[in-house]
Amino acid sequence: MADPAIDRATTPDAGSRIGREARAASLALHLGVDRSSDRPLWVQLRESLVGAVEQEVLRPGDVLPSTRVLADELGLARSTVVEAYAQLSAEGWFTAKRGSETRVAVGNQGASPAGEDRRPPMADLIDLRPGLPDLRGFPRSLWRAALVDAVTQTATRDLGYLDPAGLPLFREVVAAHLRRTRGVAATSDTVVATHGVVQGQHLAIRALTASGHTRLAVEDPLNATLRRLLAQGGLPLVAVPVDREGIDVDALARSGARAVVVTAAHQYPTGVTMTARRRAALLAWARDVDGQIVEDDYAAEFQLAEDRLPALQHGSADRVTYLGSASKTLAPGVRLGWAVPSGPLAVAFRAEKLAADHGNPVFDQVAFALLVRSGRYQRHLRAQWARYRRRRELAVRLLEAERGWRVDGGTGGLHLWVELPDGVDDEEVAAAARRWGVVVSAGSSLTVLGHCRPHLAIGYGAPSDAELAEGVRRLRSAAAGLAASAHPSALGPTLG
Ligand SMILES: Cc1ncc(COP(=O)(O)O)c(C=O)c1O
Repeated sequence: MADPAIDRATTPDAGSRIGREARAASLALHLGVDRSSDRPLWVQLRESLVGAVEQEVLRPGDVLPSTRVLADELGLARSTVVEAYAQLSAEGWFTAKRGSETRVAVGNQGASPAGEDRRPPMADLIDLRPGLPDLRGFPRSLWRAALVDAVTQTATRDLGYLDPAGLPLFREVVAAHLRRTRGVAATSDTVVATHGVVQGQHLAIRALTASGHTRLAVEDPLNATLRRLLAQGGLPLVAVPVDREGIDVDALARSGARAVVVTAAHQYPTGVTMTARRRAALLAWARDVDGQIVEDDYAAEFQLAEDRLPALQHGSADRVTYLGSASKTLAPGVRLGWAVPSGPLAVAFRAEKLAADHGNPVFDQVAFALLVRSGRYQRHLRAQWARYRRRRELAVRLLEAERGWRVDGGTGGLHLWVELPDGVDDEEVAAAARRWGVVVSAGSSLTVLGHCRPHLAIGYGAPSDAELAEGVRRLRSAAAGLAASAHPSALGPTLG
């Protein structure tokens, strides 16, 4: 619960500069560390600061006290505060621009991994944030029929406590599907049912921790909420830049991490498909440092055949833990996924699944297996992919009509990565767009290294064609309004 002394309702003008400064000034009162504990002070301070954000002592956009001031107020070494701020920036809680103040990140509190805050939108607000598939296209009648068959056909003995890795039928069907569609080296013995990629990542992080890993490298840019969820797995994160070929393996080697999470097929959010050369370098790095790679294959089903490389895990089953889910192919709400943990992590991964929840619900596993085995799942994927390709072409056409915008984002997935002209502030464009009634993600909110030029991430999976067209129209109006206020003379004499 929020502290009543600084509750939103009792704080005059909570969003004003004075409100922000008042909250930041009283911050030290809410933070504490236990010097008798053997947990590092910066780790304790990090947790205390997260608590302050969660309890709304600190709100999105608030400026943090300088590390020197906070260190003085808390009687800590400045390096302790620097370390805690750096970690929270790496996790996406704070944003730190070089040579400028550190702030509480805007727009991601209480968010879903799919892409930030999913509060009920104001009427008529068009949501073009990336991360969601076409929810209206969820195959309700297929899923209902598969569930009915599952309830009817599931053997009585399978209603008991099962192997937490999943029902043999599910594992066998998923293994065959992954071998065929992604070249994943999988058998019914190596597949583990999960509740989605996020759970797979958590189980992998716990297994990595159990086998002695002390930090986890992640790609930058990255979905800010996912970054935070990864950080909650307990390993400190190190951000490693992504370029046009995928993760920068030289920077990864310098990071000191021996474990990394990558979105090789379709980097989130840039859409870059990791090149064959970069994959080879990444696998060589893993061999050199005795490292582990976690492959988040969140959207590989939706990619042009000519750009589709087999999963990174193909041929490297000892180095790569493969993760996938039905979140983009069916719907995130189904919460069904699969993992193929790497050889060295397999035992710990299964133990963590047992500890987490003792396995997935049996009927969901059977229903999914029946859907795949009947070929209906694949037909649904083909129909959805055709729809997405068409909508993607529409989105590209509409966005490219804006002068100076460069549309990218690979050839698949469910979103585009749009580069704005240099000097344009993408967060300002996103804020103006919201005022116009359309929500998009600013690239700056997805990077902690700040190495990307200004970008917008725009999802085309969920909206209808009409919503997409209207959303882009509003976005362009918002951008034009900003440009006009920055260069009023550009409007010409008639508006004077
Ligand atoms: C890169 C990435 N990985 C994973 C996820 C979440 O996957 P799941 O719903 O399978 O947990 C998302 C959600 O949008 C994502 O963008």
